[in-house]
Amino acid sequence: MLKKYYKKLKREKFPASCVSKAELEDKFCDTVININWYSILYNRISFISLATQKFKNCKYLEVGSDNNHCFNSIPVIDKTGIDPKQGGNVRTTSDEFFSKNKKIFDVIFVDGLHTFDQCRKDIINSINFLNINGYLFIHDLLPRNFLEEFTPPMGTPWCGDVWKVAQELCKTKGIEFNLIIADHGIGLVKKIEKNVNYFDDYTKLKNLKFKDFLEINNKIKYIDPEEAIKIINN
Ligand SMILES: C[S@@+](CC[C@H](N)C(=O)[O-])C[C@H]1O[C@@H](n2cnc3c(N)ncnc32)[C@H](O)[C@@H]1O
Repeated sequence: MLKKYYKKLKREKFPASCVSKAELEDKFCDTVININWYSILYNRISFISLATQKFKNCKYLEVGSDNNHCFNSIPVIDKTGIDPKQGGNVRTTSDEFFSKNKKIFDVIFVDGLHTFDQCRKDIINSINFLNINGYLFIHDLLPRNFLEEFTPPMGTPWCGDVWKVAQELCKTKGIEFNLIIADHGIGLVKKIEKNVNYFDDYTKLKNLKFKDFLEINNKIKYIDPEEAIKIINN
């Protein structure tokens, strides 16, 4: 599905300092995914807003609110936004928040620290505090090149290696999982059963690189924005 976007670039097209840094860890890759996010005008806010409208008095949680771009755009009264630095309305880390939380949410957006380790913790916690038929969205699941995937960040935009959670989510039972091709890749999870056992593939995935992502992303169901709207409206 993503292969049609693959394109090889000459080494000189990438910043030389980033190439050398990546080569030290064998992470340089000259294939990129040639998608221009600005040409797809739907974004995370479109899909999250649509999902919230399915619930009466929707309870919304955002993990990582930053400058409130998304948080302040979601048309819901009952909102919780957590961020240790800025934005939202709870100044704390996600781990700290979930360790004390008792509230169950209808829609959750995970967009905190963009590492595989932290993101999968945020997802496991989110699924536990999500109502059945509730929606979980995850940002930045589609890095387009080694620069966007490299951890720690080399610049912006930065997806990090959160793409690895999609590899676990597509094998997790009790949820429906799709990945929307818009806005750096948005995971769309619907919780369909009370008990969800997150598929643990950590050991296999933790050391994978962007070039591995190019090889194994065909396991994921990528959908376009129109299909996502149909799924959420259903
Ligand atoms: C990409 S920004 C979020 C952008 C925002 N969700 C939006 O869509 O406009 C990521 C945010 O995650 C926050 N963050 C980093 N570590 C975190 C953690 N452990 N728990 C919660 N938020 C975290 C950062 O402070 C940063 O503001």
